[in-house]
Amino acid sequence: MQITGNTIIITGGGSGIGRGLAERFHAAGNQVIITGRNKSKLDAVAAANPGMVAISLDIADGAAIKAFAAKVVSDYPALNAVINNAGMMLAEPMTADPVDTKIADDTVITNMLGTMRLSSALLPHLQKQAQATIMTVTSGLAFVPLAMTPAYSATKAGMHSWSMATRHQLRDTNVQVIELAPPYVQTELMGPDQAKDPNAMPLAEFIDEVMAILTDNPDVEEVIVERCKPLRFAIENGNFDQVMAGLNGAHH
Ligand SMILES: NC(=O)c1ccc[n+]([C@@H]2O[C@H](COP(=O)([O-])OP(=O)(O)OC[C@H]3O[C@@H](n4cnc5c(N)ncnc54)[C@H](OP(=O)(O)O)[C@@H]3O)[C@@H](O)[C@H]2O)c1
Repeated sequence: MQITGNTIIITGGGSGIGRGLAERFHAAGNQVIITGRNKSKLDAVAAANPGMVAISLDIADGAAIKAFAAKVVSDYPALNAVINNAGMMLAEPMTADPVDTKIADDTVITNMLGTMRLSSALLPHLQKQAQATIMTVTSGLAFVPLAMTPAYSATKAGMHSWSMATRHQLRDTNVQVIELAPPYVQTELMGPDQAKDPNAMPLAEFIDEVMAILTDNPDVEEVIVERCKPLRFAIENGNFDQVMAGLNGAHH
């Protein structure tokens, strides 16, 4: 994608990676529209970046997605990019009795169906643009699962697959499908401690590397920063079992 001159929706743009991307795309000369559930958080980000637009959207609500897509396309006819970034990650104790499936339900609806529904609602419009982009934030855990979060890992692997299939279908159109797979990054995804964890990549450093990759490779299909490569390429590197054990602890 070109990193300037776009009109971009960024879901989950009120915090973390979404906010980081929103601010960098805004500074690079794009009209950025951020969405999320927490309107006051979104408004604060928009106020700090004059010209940025904040709109409430619960990505788990299919009817709300349809209404949002129709309105945003009519209000912003130049809209040509969506960054599917909103997501949730919770630990699921599979040895509990009973196993609580609410986390799995919510995670699939948010991380998978939300992205599929919003992208689908926008695709007819995106195809009418000279150049358009669907970027989906997956995870290094799409490639090597974190045992503590089975549903989360599955949704990210699922969205990797969805991105590949959608890219193939759209290969002769003007819509570019990009996957952005972050490593472990300092955000509050799993709570406030994560933002201070020295083992996680500093957010600004991560966003810098992402923007550099997008700038250097406008046709990139997967944005994989150096820190994510051991996970992304574990199978290709022939050390999946070692990486899986390193991430999750060895079997007893
Ligand atoms: N940080 C990492 O280590 C890491 C690694 C790999 C992948 N990722 C991915 O990066 C993306 C961003 O996460 P982050 O790390 O930046 O954490 P974050 O700050 O918690 O961001 C998640 C965002 O998603 C939004 N969101 C969650 N549920 C939503 C819903 N139902 N409707 C609308 N928005 C919703 C949240 O906004 P509201 O609460 O306002 O709705 C929030 O802004 C996620 O897809 C995550 O899986 C993160």
